[in-house]
Amino acid sequence: MTSVRFEDPELAARWCAKARAAGSLAFVPTMGALHAGHLSLVHAAAAENDQLCVSVFVNPLQFDDPRDLERYPRDFDADAALLAEHGCAMVFTGTLERFFPETEGANTIVLRDPGPGARGLEGDHRPGHLAGVATIVARLFELVQPTRAYFGEKDFQQTLVVRHVAARLGYPEVRVCPTSREPEGLARSSRNALLSEAGRGRAARLSRALFEARVAWQSGVREPGELEAVLLAALLAPGVDVEYAAVRDPERWTAALPAGPLERARALVAARVDGVRLIDNLLLSDP
Ligand code: PAF
Repeated sequence: MTSVRFEDPELAARWCAKARAAGSLAFVPTMGALHAGHLSLVHAAAAENDQLCVSVFVNPLQFDDPRDLERYPRDFDADAALLAEHGCAMVFTGTLERFFPETEGANTIVLRDPGPGARGLEGDHRPGHLAGVATIVARLFELVQPTRAYFGEKDFQQTLVVRHVAARLGYPEVRVCPTSREPEGLARSSRNALLSEAGRGRAARLSRALFEARVAWQSGVREPGELEAVLLAALLAPGVDVEYAAVRDPERWTAALPAGPLERARALVAARVDGVRLIDNLLLSDP
């Protein structure tokens, strides 16, 4: 099976208008370098909708580190071929100029307010990142006007931002799918391809720390500071540069540590391994 491909977002938008007229349209926005995690979103989207389209665009607006942008893996042809095998009817890409034709270059693009979910943690460590995500996601939603859009839970603050964008626009229905993990627990990410063999072993500490915090929660620990101490103890090791190890109430997002005892908790971690920035999170309480 082949899927339709567009490198002009305008042509993609026309295809989407026709697809929407015929039934429900699912959308999975990606930055490419597709792996099993993306495919789990693609499968959920294909199962719940009449048509599915995917975008592949490494969005410069959301990179606070030019080196990270430069070395982000890219292979549009391989991604498009893989998507065609997994029920995707259309895949599109573009350039900043094509996504924002009304502006005169990247510096004049007005960034969207990412909403309260962007405060703290990722917001502190990657200034401007979530505003860049909100800006491209809003533009992609405007072009595709999907019935439903699919995101992975691994980027938890991103899901808060995307829900904020969708609430402002009045569409689409946002679906958040569980984090896809390697057998050793490591959350699947395109950046994992940049890790050395030894680095992969060290990176497994992130998920291990989260699961240890869940065990602590299950044994009755409810103070956020104590849960953070569990996370940090499991995470700290040579070659793991911790950026944060935090606990939040997922339904009442706060930039800073919430007051305990908590009724609900999500643990979130960010660390650099081999110079590669990795993030992960886990709901500690019952869903
Ligand atoms: O999660 C991602 O891959 C990106 O942040 C997204 C949602 C495609 C926006 O560029």
